[in-house]
Amino acid sequence: MTTTTSGTSGTSTTTLEELERRATARRDRPSYGHDALIACDRLVRIFTTDGVEVQALQGLDLLVTEGELMALVGASGSGKSTLMNILAGLDVPTAGAAKVAGCDLLAMDGKARLRYRREVVGFVWQQTARNLLPYLTAAQNVALPMQLKDGRKGGTRQKARRAEELLAMLGMSEHADRRPHQMSGGQQQRVAIAVALANNPSVLLADEPTGELDSATGEQVFAAFRRANEELGTTIVIVTHDQAVASEVRRTVAIRDGRTSSEVLRRTEVDETGQESLVAREYAMLDRAGRLQLPAEYTEALEMRHRVALELEQDHIGVWPDDKG
Ligand SMILES: Nc1ncnc2c1ncn2[C@@H]1O[C@H](COP(=O)(O)OP(=O)(O)OP(=O)(O)O)[C@@H](O)[C@H]1O
Ligand SMILES: [Mg+2]
Repeated sequence: MTTTTSGTSGTSTTTLEELERRATARRDRPSYGHDALIACDRLVRIFTTDGVEVQALQGLDLLVTEGELMALVGASGSGKSTLMNILAGLDVPTAGAAKVAGCDLLAMDGKARLRYRREVVGFVWQQTARNLLPYLTAAQNVALPMQLKDGRKGGTRQKARRAEELLAMLGMSEHADRRPHQMSGGQQQRVAIAVALANNPSVLLADEPTGELDSATGEQVFAAFRRANEELGTTIVIVTHDQAVASEVRRTVAIRDGRTSSEVLRRTEVDETGQESLVAREYAMLDRAGRLQLPAEYTEALEMRHRVALELEQDHIGVWPDDKG
């Protein structure tokens, strides 16, 4: 401890310098998620219906890097669609911060929000009928967002060409002149991906896009997302219950009770014989306050309840049940 006495002791100046240094270090430290394309910081969304409050998001943190293709999983009611609607610019959080491609989702006015929905994000819904206009052909559906963005004047041929290219990339060229009712559910979803990509968005969001499809068709639709990610570099976030989809991406984030709780990372490893294998590892999320959520199976197995004992070891932290409890 240092006490300040009218300028005689050297220690008071050292302390001030030290405080100043610390303050500068704090100021210069990059902000949370400064280099992420999507950054959700302690996001809260409370719904109030008839005086009853539902906390759909309870301080959710999520970072997504540019160019990532990742999946969000979680039980029904855990808050996945609530998060997606916020990221899509359709809903506004109650508190916290959310930024997508430099746009502050809490601060946008009506005009900025419209531009955001048209140009920055693309969206694919679970219900095939919700994604396409029934009286337009596939090619016309894809050209529509471009017309809405630029107005109907000019560049018609260019827009038609881009629509053709997108449909070709997703293997839908032959169906360009068909209307939605003349296509299967999986084909409609692939056209819906082309529609969502029409204005070259930074982020493509999809809420259960394979939910209404059988597994083989779901696989094809997922392949279309992968194609968009690889060929156009679009960042993609897919909410899914489909285990096959969840296990085909590099990162799967699990949401529990309105918060991100754990994530699975997958990478390819090559052993001494040159054999490639996919290695998956599950991690618990650690928030900035140092909180982490222990899996219920673990805490129940060791009857951990109100508190645990921690011990810092050289390369890990031990967590023990409270034997004084
Ligand atoms: N508009 C709303 N008004 C009131 N409560 C809502 C509203 N939207 C969602 N909720 C509630 O918020 C919680 C999270 O819902 P959400 O739709 O985000 O879950 P989900 O993870 O998408 O579930 P599912 O897997 O069933 O689609 C639920 O308890 C839900 O009832
Ligand atoms: Mg949902």
